[in-house]
Amino acid sequence: MAKILVTGAAGFIGSHTTDFLLAEGQTVVGVDNLRTGRRENLDSALQSPRFALHLLDVAAPGALAALVAAERPDAIVHLAALVSVQESMANPALNFSLNLHATQLVAEAARVTGVGRVVFASSAAIYGDGAEQPIRESAEKRPVSPYGAAKLASEDLLLGHGACYGFTVRCQRYFNVYGPRQDPASPYSGVISIFARRYGEGKGVTIYGDGRQTRDFVAVRDVARANALAATRPGLVAGSVNICTGRATSLGELAGIFSARHPDVPAPAHAPARPGDIRHSLGDPAAAAAELGFTARTTVAEGLAELIAGSPVSLLS
Ligand code: UD1
Repeated sequence: MAKILVTGAAGFIGSHTTDFLLAEGQTVVGVDNLRTGRRENLDSALQSPRFALHLLDVAAPGALAALVAAERPDAIVHLAALVSVQESMANPALNFSLNLHATQLVAEAARVTGVGRVVFASSAAIYGDGAEQPIRESAEKRPVSPYGAAKLASEDLLLGHGACYGFTVRCQRYFNVYGPRQDPASPYSGVISIFARRYGEGKGVTIYGDGRQTRDFVAVRDVARANALAATRPGLVAGSVNICTGRATSLGELAGIFSARHPDVPAPAHAPARPGDIRHSLGDPAAAAAELGFTARTTVAEGLAELIAGSPVSLLS
């Protein structure tokens, strides 16, 4: 079994990744400053003798390097980030610090301590708008936000360091991730978290545009498994892959699934499309299958059924 250091461990994807690694029998060193992560997300993990949480800021000089040197993990899964595209637009300097400068500190910590592998939370946002669908990894990268730009630059930064200093870098380009613990608080939160909360409260939702726009929604438990594979599967070489399902779901279909389970909630209202909204975003999952042995297993219907029922998911299924 391996020792994995997870940055952003108290966040949405980080806490699920931590839970998955612990369920597999790995040891996890969690790092979070609780800026957007929440300690409650780790309620279950904190019961494990194979888990410890360190409250530190990955972007603070020297902090992560000291912890990595003390813990000597087999791999670092770097998920700590400024996670809101909108916030990156409002505060590009903070985006630079948390989404690019922090990556440099991770690369440096890996180099100095001799960590064998680094897994990085990249994003479909690196492709921007207009890529041919389904989007393959080789598609042109034209990020249209500071967030997407920093994720793309971070991939290059890590891959170059890994090639030079001899550690393996795996970049995970997440599409639209959804599931339990996703924060529904902001109007710019993921649409599924917003819909889950509103339907759960008996309130109607708003669909921006005609509802025919589509996304590749991937369940967070599949993403956690993909991260665990990238961190622990023997023999991997460096690379970047889409973490997606390869299946498109329209907003109208999404609302239909919720409406069927909440027949008393008013029908969705329609509002004008959001400026800058992408029409279609669908990933090609073939490279993740070939390189990582990862295929998403959870359909949107299953994932939403679990989310709506609030039922616990079997982590290793
Ligand atoms: C994601 C980012 C967004 C970024 C965009 C471009 C998230 C949560 N959002 O948006 O900040 O600008 O990539 O890279 O990561 N919708 C509704 N009703 C709602 C909420 C959303 O109809 O109440 C629609 C949106 O207009 C959109 C779709 O649902 O068409 C999905 O929205 P969202 O979950 O924000 O994801 P992205 O559009 O992919």
